[in-house]
Amino acid sequence: MKQLHKQSSVVNYRRDEENPPTTSTHPSTYPSKTQKQPRSLPRSINYLMKEQRLLFILVGILIASTFFFLQPTLSRLGPSEYISVEPIGVTNHHNVWNPSWSSANRQVGKVGRVPAGIQRRQLRIVVTGGAGFVGSHLVDKLLARGNNVIVIDNFFTGRKENAMHHFGNPRFELIRHDVVEPILLEVDQIYHLACPASPVHYKYNPIKTIKTNVVGTLNMLGLAKRIGARFLLTSTSEVYGDPLEHPQKETYWGNVNPIGVRSCYDEGKRTAETLTMDYHRGAGVEVRIARIFNTYGPRMCLDDGHVVSNFVSQALRKQPLTVYGNGKQTRSFQYVSDLVDGLVALMENEHVGPFNLGNPGEFTMLELAEVVKETIDSSATIEFNPNTEDDPHKRKPDISKAKELLNWEPKISLREGLPLMVTDFQKRILNDEEGGTLK
Ligand SMILES: NC(=O)c1ccc[n+]([C@@H]2O[C@H](COP(=O)([O-])OP(=O)(O)OC[C@H]3O[C@@H](n4cnc5c(N)ncnc54)[C@H](O)[C@@H]3O)[C@@H](O)[C@H]2O)c1
Repeated sequence: MKQLHKQSSVVNYRRDEENPPTTSTHPSTYPSKTQKQPRSLPRSINYLMKEQRLLFILVGILIASTFFFLQPTLSRLGPSEYISVEPIGVTNHHNVWNPSWSSANRQVGKVGRVPAGIQRRQLRIVVTGGAGFVGSHLVDKLLARGNNVIVIDNFFTGRKENAMHHFGNPRFELIRHDVVEPILLEVDQIYHLACPASPVHYKYNPIKTIKTNVVGTLNMLGLAKRIGARFLLTSTSEVYGDPLEHPQKETYWGNVNPIGVRSCYDEGKRTAETLTMDYHRGAGVEVRIARIFNTYGPRMCLDDGHVVSNFVSQALRKQPLTVYGNGKQTRSFQYVSDLVDGLVALMENEHVGPFNLGNPGEFTMLELAEVVKETIDSSATIEFNPNTEDDPHKRKPDISKAKELLNWEPKISLREGLPLMVTDFQKRILNDEEGGTLK
C-alpha cells in the first residue's frame, strides 16, 4: 500500500510539474477558474509555438476556407437544373423547374452548401405505368424538363418501344415490376398510372385489374408515406358511371354498377380514390387526384376497344367502322399532350382535387366516325353492333375547377389531334402487316 501511495504521489508530482500546485486551500485537482486562467494562457501560446504547430493550423484553415468559398462556383458548373427543352407535340406551360416543388428539394435549397462529392439533387420522379400510352408521353415531358425519371411497368399493356428512345439517358431508368408487389425507392414525386385502361384489357383479367387498383395503389401510397413523396393518382371519368348529371362536375358522386363487368375498373378506381384520400387525411401524405376523360394520341394500343383507336385502325385497314348501339351516345376526346400538361400542373399545384381533366368538346359516336372518315378515308363504311353492357350514354367533363385552380384547359381540338395520331398508327399498322414487332 505504502509503495502504491508513493507511486501515485510521484505521478501526481509529475502532473504538478505541468500544473503546479496553487496557493488555494482546495485540493490541486479542483483549481478555481480565476486562478487557472492567467497561467494557462501563456502555456497554450507556448504549446502552439512549439514544433511549428501554429503554422500547421494556419495552413489547415487556409485550405478549408479556400474550398468553402470555391465550392458553390464549382457546383454551378455541374449539370444544369433548369432545362427548358420542349418535347415534340407537347405544349409546356411550366418549363422551368422550381426546386421548391418538393419537400426534399426544399431541404436541399435550405442547406445552401452541399458537402464535397455530393451534387445538388434534381427532382426524382416515379411514373408507374410509364411504358403505356399516357405514361410514356408524361415521361417524355418530365425528362425534357430535366427531371430524373424511374418508370415502373409490368408491360401488361405497355411496350418497351414507348420508352426505347430514352435508353442511354442517365436520367432515365426502367424497372420491370408489378405494382401489386411492394417496392422501395427514394423519390420526390409518384405519378401512379399503372392500370389497364381500355375495356378490352381490364375485362381480360378483372381480378388482376381490381388487385392492381387496390393493392397496387396501397403499395404506392405506402411508399409515398414512407419516403415523404407527393402522390398523384390517375383516376377516371368512369367513377361517374352512367351519369345522371351532365356535364359531370367533381362534386357528382356517380351512378356506378358495383357488380357489372366494368366494376373491376370503375369500382377499383373509386376505391383507389378512397385510399388516396385516407392516406392524405390519416397519414398526412401529400396527394393529388386527376379524373381523366377519354384521351387519344400516338402510342395508343391499336386494337384496345377505345372508340378512337378502333375507328382509326379500322379506317386505315379499310374495314368498316363498328358503332355499338345506335351511335347517339356521346364522349369527349382530349389529345394526350393536353392531358400531360394537366397532370403536371396538378402535381405542382397545392390543390388535392379531384380534378376533371378532359376536353369538353362533345361528340356522338356517329359524329366521331364522320371526323375519322374526313381525316382518313371518306369512303369508309359504318357497321352497327349491339351495345356493350353498362356503356355510359353520355360523358362530358365540367372543367371549370381545373380552369380556375390549375389555370389549365385543353388546347388541341379533335380535328387537330386526330391527324397526329393517324401518322403514328399508319406506321405501326404497316409494320404489323410487314411482320415487324411494333404494336
Ligand atoms: N387513356 C385514357 O383515355 C384514360 C382515361 C381515364 C383514365 N386513364 C388512366 O390513365 C392511366 C394510364 O392509362 P393509359 O391509357 O396510358 O393505359 P395503358 O394501358 O396504355 O397504360 C397502363 C400501363 O400500366 C401498366 N400496368 C398495368 N398493370 C400494371 C401492374 N400491375 N404493375 C405495373 N404496371 C402495370 C401497363 O403495362 C401499361 O404500361 C390508367 O391509370 C388509366 O386508368 C386513362
